[in-house]
Amino acid sequence: MSKLWGGRFQKKTSQMVDDFHSSISFDCRLYRYDIEGSMAHAEMLGLTGIISPGEAGAIVEGLKEVLSDIESGLVEFSVEAEDIHMNVEQILTARIGTVAKKLHTARSRNDQVALDIRMFLRDEIDQTVQLLDGLSNTLLDMAEKHLDTVMPGYTHLQRAQPVTLAHHLMAYVQMFGRDRERLLDGRRRVNVMPLGAGALAGTTFPLDPGFVAQRLGFGGVAQNSLDAVSDRDFAVEFTAAASLIMVHLSRFCEEIILWSSSEFSFIELDDEFSTGSSMMPQKKNPDVAELIRGKAGRVFGDLTTLLTMLKGLPLAYNKDMQEDKEALFDALDTVKKCLDIFRSMLATVRVKKANMAGAARGGFTNATDLADYLVRKGVPFREAHEVVGKAVFYCVREGKSLDQLDLEEYRSFSPLVEGDVYEHISIHRCVEARKVLAGPSPESVTGAIERARRK
Ligand code: ARG
Repeated sequence: MSKLWGGRFQKKTSQMVDDFHSSISFDCRLYRYDIEGSMAHAEMLGLTGIISPGEAGAIVEGLKEVLSDIESGLVEFSVEAEDIHMNVEQILTARIGTVAKKLHTARSRNDQVALDIRMFLRDEIDQTVQLLDGLSNTLLDMAEKHLDTVMPGYTHLQRAQPVTLAHHLMAYVQMFGRDRERLLDGRRRVNVMPLGAGALAGTTFPLDPGFVAQRLGFGGVAQNSLDAVSDRDFAVEFTAAASLIMVHLSRFCEEIILWSSSEFSFIELDDEFSTGSSMMPQKKNPDVAELIRGKAGRVFGDLTTLLTMLKGLPLAYNKDMQEDKEALFDALDTVKKCLDIFRSMLATVRVKKANMAGAARGGFTNATDLADYLVRKGVPFREAHEVVGKAVFYCVREGKSLDQLDLEEYRSFSPLVEGDVYEHISIHRCVEARKVLAGPSPESVTGAIERARRK
């Protein structure tokens, strides 16, 4: 078939070039948006009298049939037709004849492709938000069950102060909550209708972009034709938000990998979500978590691809921009798949509460609370810190924990220690007393869960 832009050419495109620059192998996934966009465009051309209402009707009907043919797998796309836009137009022309040739009036593939990606990305953002919500709900359900599951909190991966598993899980609810806001904030900038920009300089035809925007559910219309066809910042924003989701998933996965090791032994992954070794019969590996951690790198790579692709481009459209799609598709496919499988894996984890509590009791995680005890007896914090540091040193030497010291031993460090110290530094009290709004006490975390549920 001859090219839709072939008039000015004497020779056929080299096969090498067709193969090289054709994007149909990947942009075919935009077909539905391309066709819906074309229907709205044709309707608008009819309503504004740019083409006749009869012609618009014939085009819209034809496009409906093309859509259903594609959906029933009856259509084979052609590499010579280059991309999804020209493939659809060619198929339409084969189906309804010359009237199809009026569809591209006052439009360019440059504003068309921008429209398609924006419509596509809107839906993908909505799906990603749904997956994030599903994950957050799973986290909230788990947190409700583990308000009293004490575990060590860490800094530098050294035991620091006791927290609860609920509190730890709720940290991720906060992160995924911000990820959600980032996606929805970016969605407002995706949801702008670019048709009317033409190739770069708009059009002399009296279009009605407002009609097309309303028909396709857009929140606004592009305000500058050069910008409308030449920026992909909205795709960068999505991929940046996706990268942060992957950062959060990856950190969580790292913890799941650590926690399921024999050294921690805080959790056991379900058989369905772990894998074995072809050589070592005893192995049960956290491959899913590792693979998600690994896939974070892919999405960061996609972000780098998009930024690098854009950074040197003069206005307006350049063919480099065709490279936006595979990076964007890869980022959103990866992040969606990871969110989905991560949620399922997490929901089936078995928590070894006794091991978590045991670890919280070791490592002097109540040392700060002992210092605070002395502060409440009037000792300045710096002095209390020093006294407790000495007591810890003594315990390490004697192979004891702080709550195993008797009163006499305590009094050798500070005469102010009394019998109530044991209650004061018990691990459960250490958690329960941390009642600040953002703290780990069951009371505070219950509040956090309620606030998150309401959101
Ligand atoms: N396939 C192209 C892309 O993805 C569509 C726009 C082509 N425009 C052009 N002037 N060659 O960017």
